[in-house]
Amino acid sequence: MNPTLQVIEGRRSVRAYSGQPITYEEKDLILQAAFRAPTAGNMMLYSIVEVEDQALKDRLAETCDHQPFIAKAPYLLLFLADFQRWFDFFTSSGVERRSRELNLPYRTPQAGDLLLACCDALIAAQTAVIAAESLGIGSCYIGDILEQYEIHRDLFNLPAYTLPISLVCFGRPAAAGPQANRTPRFAREFIVHKNSYRRFNPEEMETMFKHLRERFEAQRKAPGGVSPEAENVGQAVFFRKFVSDFSLEMSRSVREMLKNWE
Ligand SMILES: Cc1cc2nc3c(=O)[nH]c(=O)nc-3n(C[C@H](O)[C@H](O)[C@H](O)COP(=O)(O)O)c2cc1C
Repeated sequence: MNPTLQVIEGRRSVRAYSGQPITYEEKDLILQAAFRAPTAGNMMLYSIVEVEDQALKDRLAETCDHQPFIAKAPYLLLFLADFQRWFDFFTSSGVERRSRELNLPYRTPQAGDLLLACCDALIAAQTAVIAAESLGIGSCYIGDILEQYEIHRDLFNLPAYTLPISLVCFGRPAAAGPQANRTPRFAREFIVHKNSYRRFNPEEMETMFKHLRERFEAQRKAPGGVSPEAENVGQAVFFRKFVSDFSLEMSRSVREMLKNWE
């Protein structure tokens, strides 16, 4: 396996960090790698906020569904889907007036622009993650940054056409403590389709979710049990994740973001 594939294969989310800080040179390499990520139309429809202030980290540890390890990460990067920079440029370039004069179409950023900006931001984020990994620096995405939009908007002074799409914690893995096992993935045949998409029947789903079902059964038998309300692993995930408080809050928060964008 070549060194790039080794880095990709070896990566896992890291949530416990050694006290060792990330150096200026390492931050520079991580950011430089992010900048080299592909970007739609070479527009770089994202911005990155380096979060270094401890009070801000402490606040994020609370607002992102109470995850204390966020406050302990030596380096945090907030990836914003950002159409504001370009739209400000369009505006200061007099596009509205010129469109009117020439009877040409004029519009503000819309849903397609938002999704493109999200693609850009996430590709840059993942490039930063892999660059960090190659330097021995672990990372963990925080999807809960999509919650509490109003608080995050005010904390980071976000204008309408910016959206906090992902927060990533960086830090060297803690020397001591249990090493997480590699997390399982669905078998390739359930993820990769040939030429067109295909939905799976219940028998195939039995096979697809086998690893989750086995873990659920084991946890259920363990002292204290888990998910007493669930009859099976599908129900357990539905109740624990899909209709959980954090998931409902995420949906509410994203509705607010979209209102703002549109
Ligand atoms: C979009 C996204 C959001 C995530 N949000 C969180 C999070 O809020 N907290 C957390 O501990 N891990 C989070 N993770 C990490 C996943 O739990 C992790 O990637 C997954 O369990 C697979 O494990 P691995 O990364 O070690 O392979 C997130 C990952 C992604 C891609």
